[in-house]
Amino acid sequence: SSGRPIVYITRSDMPECGVNLLKKECDVKYWPKPSPVPREEFLKEISGAAGIYCSLTDKIDKDILDAAGPSLRVVATISVGYDHIDVQECKKRGIKLGYTPDVLTDATAELTLALLLSTSRRLPEAQHEAQTGGWVSWAPTWMTGPGLAGSTVGIAGFGRIGQAVARRVKAFNTARILYWNRSVRPEAKEIGAVKVNFDELLTESDFVICCAALVPETKEIFNKSAFEKMKKSAIFVNTSRGGTVDQDALIESLKNNTIRAAGLDVTTPEPLPLDSPLFKLKNCVVLPHIGSASIEARDIMSELTAKNILAAIQGTDMPAEIK
Ligand code: DGY
Repeated sequence: SSGRPIVYITRSDMPECGVNLLKKECDVKYWPKPSPVPREEFLKEISGAAGIYCSLTDKIDKDILDAAGPSLRVVATISVGYDHIDVQECKKRGIKLGYTPDVLTDATAELTLALLLSTSRRLPEAQHEAQTGGWVSWAPTWMTGPGLAGSTVGIAGFGRIGQAVARRVKAFNTARILYWNRSVRPEAKEIGAVKVNFDELLTESDFVICCAALVPETKEIFNKSAFEKMKKSAIFVNTSRGGTVDQDALIESLKNNTIRAAGLDVTTPEPLPLDSPLFKLKNCVVLPHIGSASIEARDIMSELTAKNILAAIQGTDMPAEIK
């Protein structure tokens, strides 16, 4: 071997800018296909790696860390979410962790607004009608949906992305923005968002948007009882993690019109099986986890992931470390 540190990348199609940065300093090994490395292969291939460049499709647990062995210094994920990583286990072993906050905030907030509008104004359904003969004439009550102007928007999880969504939503002349978050967010004042408890968020909001990280406290907080507390006219949007939702309860709520509609960029599992009832519901818009998929965001996420790995290996401060 060259004596250079080995970095393992879990798929072949990570944006090049990051991969090229790594290649200057490290020996880069990777799964040679544009798809997540199969678990068996991952376990076999990472022995001796100093760094792992992974994504949210790769579960990083004790077995993976054992397979990598004592050479492993850093795991960096090309995502802001890190619920796929056993953080405690990494800390215990002194393995540094990198992620990609901030650089995807705009992209994810933009997609959240796109999904909110697609769901409320029924864009996929309307396009389908236009393409299949449903567009008979302009019609006064056809394809109508609730507007954002004058409405109350509730945001669950008021971190970087939740706040960025609030700032954008405000431009639609909403009447009120409510947020639910563990701690008070000082930024809320300037945005004009009001902190409420979870029940108030559910009962008061016309649009309920989930931007909360998936942690034990947020696991399936959107359950049957939550959907029952929402307005019958409510629209639910999720761009965080599928695990914040009891998906069977959501399906029932959409079928029974307990709520009006849902827009989901994240589901359980991912990809969502083609026979999922969610795909059959006209009042549900499902996107394939593309929140951060702006060209700019993905490039800079890859660069940041590489910089996290290089810094950890060289023993300097990582630009975005999970502490
Ligand atoms: C994240 O960053 O956590 C998203 O889910 C993928 O960009």
